Amino acid sequence: MLSQGLRRTAALLTSRALGRRQLSARIVDESYVEVQPAARGSGSAAALTFPAVWLRDNCRCPSCFHSSSQSRQLDWNHFDPNVRPLALHMDNDKQQLHVRWSDEHESSYALDWLQHRSFDGRSQSKYLDEFYRPRTKHWAGAEFERIAQRFNYDQVMSEDEPLQQWLQALAVYGVALLNGAPPDKAVVRHLAERVGFIRRTTYGEEFIVQAKPGAKNYAYLSLPLPLHTDLPYYEYKPSVNILHCLVQTQSPGGSNLLVDAFHIADRLRREHPDDFERLARTLVDWNDIGSEDGHEFHNIWRAPVICLDAAGEYTRINHSVPQRDSHFNVPLEQVLPWYRSYARFVQLARDDAYSFKTQPGDVLTFNNIRLLHGRTGYDDTEQNSRYIVGAYLDWDIVYSRLRVLKKRLTSNSTATTSTSSSSSSPSPSPSI
Ligand code: OGA
Ligand code: ZN
Ligand code: ZN
Repeated sequence: MLSQGLRRTAALLTSRALGRRQLSARIVDESYVEVQPAARGSGSAAALTFPAVWLRDNCRCPSCFHSSSQSRQLDWNHFDPNVRPLALHMDNDKQQLHVRWSDEHESSYALDWLQHRSFDGRSQSKYLDEFYRPRTKHWAGAEFERIAQRFNYDQVMSEDEPLQQWLQALAVYGVALLNGAPPDKAVVRHLAERVGFIRRTTYGEEFIVQAKPGAKNYAYLSLPLPLHTDLPYYEYKPSVNILHCLVQTQSPGGSNLLVDAFHIADRLRREHPDDFERLARTLVDWNDIGSEDGHEFHNIWRAPVICLDAAGEYTRINHSVPQRDSHFNVPLEQVLPWYRSYARFVQLARDDAYSFKTQPGDVLTFNNIRLLHGRTGYDDTEQNSRYIVGAYLDWDIVYSRLRVLKKRLTSNSTATTSTSSSSSSPSPSPSI
């Protein structure tokens, strides 16, 4: 809403068709269009204010918008950022706003379409938290059994709703488990392809985690595998880890360890702010050197342990003892304090780690750029050799799938219940 003080320059237009929602709109300060969805029942709907330049930029006519590619094709070489609305007209029957512009163009906008793009802060937060990316909920190790949701593999593979619930849980908590998967090495591929497609890395598409002689990766030993994120040495890290247990060790070890490193970062930020700052600012060299299938590789990526965006929200966590380079390209005086801060982070994480043991048929899926994972040491025997198949997905692919599912499931449910959307706080819908 604009402040009362703004000059109102054009007359209020009101449609008077009976039996319909009464719409009205006005031009405010030459630069804004205020749409008033008429009151429904006894409640009054809040006015929606749109910047005129944004409306012009988002004209839906065929010369400005290419509908089959759902893309803007407006000619931005001749776009006037000072474009003004000259006149408004409300079509109450079609529930549309029409605008005549100072650049001699005319545009129409459906009320529903406008409502879903409201600039109101609450609507925008709802869209960002529910549709763009679900808001994360951070958890302590002791809360694992409460937050870890379990889904049936066959249902996830065959029905949209369990698929959506699995991906939603993964996005919010960073971890979710599937059970009942067949003893088939292709399970991780089938799951990844149910979502989108596998993310290939130096170690291939599917990778087998088992104790191997002459292991090329520290994970391919039966030693304890300390908490870590996979591939911190990639700029474009695979971000979702899928680990399918085909054979679990009968020896006492082989348990999974999981920690929500966003929760550990929350604690550091609160309890040890200097350590937090240091871990968020110091670039660490992460590396991996070796060869796979006859191809040599030397991966390096420099990034802090705690990566933040401009708003101070976590974007990713990097942590690996084996995969931290001996090159450490920071000023000499930063080294000692960084080691102390990092040791504190590692200790907090270790103390918080939740331990459990997947069984054959379980598929553990988790956010590789948020959770730390590890494994306790184990002993293979001739008859029992632990066998895990892994693969990765990228968050881009997961979020995209989740949005498509949400649109599909929302449109199915609105088709069956035929309820109209609320004017002040619309939920994500196919018109998005
Ligand atoms: C890995 C890994 C976990 C396990 O291969 O990077 O974390 O349970 N494996 O073996
Ligand atoms: Zn147009
Ligand atoms: Zn790992």
